[in-house]
Amino acid sequence: MTESQAKKRIEELSKEIDEHNYNYYVLDKPTISDFQFDKLLEELIRLEKEFPFYASPDSPTQRVGGQITKVFKAVKHKYPMLSLGNTYSEEELRDFDDRVRKAIGDEFEYVCELKFDGLSISMHYTDGKLVQAVTRGDGVQGDDVTTNVKTIKSIPLKLKDGDWPDEFEIRGEIMMPLKSFEKINKEIRLQLKEDGYDDSEIEDRLLKNPRNAASGTIKMQDSSVVAKRNLDCFLYFLLGENPGFKTHEESLKKAKEWGFKVSDHYKLCKSMDEVMKYLLHWDKARHDLPYETDGVVIKINSLRQQRDLGFTAKSPRWAIAYKFKSESVSTQLLSISYQVGRTGAITPVANLHPVLLAGTTVKRATLHNADQIEKLDLRIGDFVFVEKGGEIIPKITEVDLKRRDKNSKPVRYISKCPECGTALVRKEGESLHYCTNELGCPPQIKGRIQHFISRRAMDIDSLGEGKVEMLYDHGLIKTPADLYWLSHQQMLGLEKIIEGEEGEKSKKISLQEKSVQKILAGIEASKEIPFERVLYAIGIRYVGETVAKKLAFHFKSMDAISIATEEELMHAEEIGEKIAESIVDFFKEKRNRKLVEELKEAGLKMKLSADSIPEKISSKLNGLSFVVSGVFSDFSRDEIKQVIEQHGGKNQSGVSAKTDYLLAGDEAGPSKLEKAKKLNVKVMDEKEFLKLIH
Ligand code: IVH
Repeated sequence: MTESQAKKRIEELSKEIDEHNYNYYVLDKPTISDFQFDKLLEELIRLEKEFPFYASPDSPTQRVGGQITKVFKAVKHKYPMLSLGNTYSEEELRDFDDRVRKAIGDEFEYVCELKFDGLSISMHYTDGKLVQAVTRGDGVQGDDVTTNVKTIKSIPLKLKDGDWPDEFEIRGEIMMPLKSFEKINKEIRLQLKEDGYDDSEIEDRLLKNPRNAASGTIKMQDSSVVAKRNLDCFLYFLLGENPGFKTHEESLKKAKEWGFKVSDHYKLCKSMDEVMKYLLHWDKARHDLPYETDGVVIKINSLRQQRDLGFTAKSPRWAIAYKFKSESVSTQLLSISYQVGRTGAITPVANLHPVLLAGTTVKRATLHNADQIEKLDLRIGDFVFVEKGGEIIPKITEVDLKRRDKNSKPVRYISKCPECGTALVRKEGESLHYCTNELGCPPQIKGRIQHFISRRAMDIDSLGEGKVEMLYDHGLIKTPADLYWLSHQQMLGLEKIIEGEEGEKSKKISLQEKSVQKILAGIEASKEIPFERVLYAIGIRYVGETVAKKLAFHFKSMDAISIATEEELMHAEEIGEKIAESIVDFFKEKRNRKLVEELKEAGLKMKLSADSIPEKISSKLNGLSFVVSGVFSDFSRDEIKQVIEQHGGKNQSGVSAKTDYLLAGDEAGPSKLEKAKKLNVKVMDEKEFLKLIH
């Protein structure tokens, strides 16, 4: 292909891909399949690689990201980004209407729009091309997040042909659609479950709501991660020296013509009554939208009248936001149940009379811990208000005291484990109660076996939650070691009834020949799992994957670890007092020593193998400490940690002032990134890391 042919083809492809992006992400009406689209994009990527001088900064290939922004540049807004006055009631809205009428008379129209719940963004276009995107910041200056914004496919990098001004600014809201939010949380949940976290700990670590998720994402350093998070953006405000149109509605229509995503749900209203109708409609209908809204924005349509009304110090006098009340319903608290996790942690759950809230039936709400119950002064039979307010799990906000039964008594938190009857303990400074009957309490026993077989531990994937339960219920397993004495005969034909949820039928499952063979093969194969993972699998509290590795490399065998004193343990890298104490406590228990003996007898690896000791390759990373987080393209997380050690570096499990680099892959933990930023720890991606060692 000659250069001029390449140039022509690159232009053709860019135009075609832009058009398909627009059809898909703005109009929601794709005209080709994903496969066909990918083919076009691949061709463009290939050509741009071969003829890089024709790759333009607004090429659709920019959408996949890849650029890293270490520090977001602060940029002063050309026009300050003001906020809107908020109201929650019809009365306040009518006051606003009165003020407007007093100022400009009765001849005007309103435009009502949805108030999108995300983060506001201001984008600058020059000659029809996106040149800069800046967050709101403090309203006067914000952060330049252009590289990340370019990955949002509904935002045009290049405008369609049209009468756009050479220079203008457009503002809108970046949001995370509910589907993407749920998908990301599902992935986080799976990962943490596999890591052995309790449900209450998992809840704490999930993305809180789509708004937080969107603003967290837009400030991520790696734009390729942003690209995968499927953000979206609605535009609602056009600014420029000479816009050339008379009404706000006209500007929305123009913006749409030029290729911006403008919501179709706006409405011209001639009176307050029409505005109220719009509000009432969307207060309900918003729950059917694929993204979150938290109110309605009411604006004067005529731009001349907007100018006449002007601004106060903080907000325009020509617009106001009406905020929806977070939907709250009242229902009765029927009972409180207490769940026991694998570590023995107790989580109280409120069982409610089923009630419809924001489109779903709510039957349960989390209560977190005993303090929460006390703070709410809950009593069984109380009518309580339940809210979903953007969070995933509904919560009880308050008790309806007017409806309280006079004879009711405050809830007495349980003092014994609901599963095994053991007295609960609550250590000083901890918010949770624990059942200490580690070896006799069914959910703890089953939980430990689940952890033992999990992917990152012994990886026996032919056994799952249901099968472990089945084997436990039939009295065949009580400890992980029992797995190794299971026979074909014992398992064949075993049955389990799975209770259906309300309205659903119960199911009966039974173990057939094929499953039994698979289970036995999986158990056999686990004998080859390296020692450091066996150490992780036996479930010593606070001994996660990284700590297990440290211990394994330092002490080389289970025997050595089991007899080490707290002080000796603390000589190993990253082992502090809390972990050391927990290890000593573990091996003090006769039952735990027995478990380890039995696993040894079963043939599991109890010593560090020669292959596990990383062969030294270089000393390029000598003296440097790394924290690894996220998913990498060329390595598993374990592999990349091994490479660090092979080059003389050290791995740490958490970011601290002693960390030199946070090596962040896709979906790196937001809290780690935040901590790194706070402590001024450098964040590096896979590419930079490879450069460092090669
Ligand atoms: S107009 C001069 N329209 O709400 C202010 N804002 O509190 C112009 N928002 O910062 C803003 N949807 O982030 C406008 N349809 C909409 C909106 C909207 C959401 C956000 C925006 C703004 C905040 C105002």
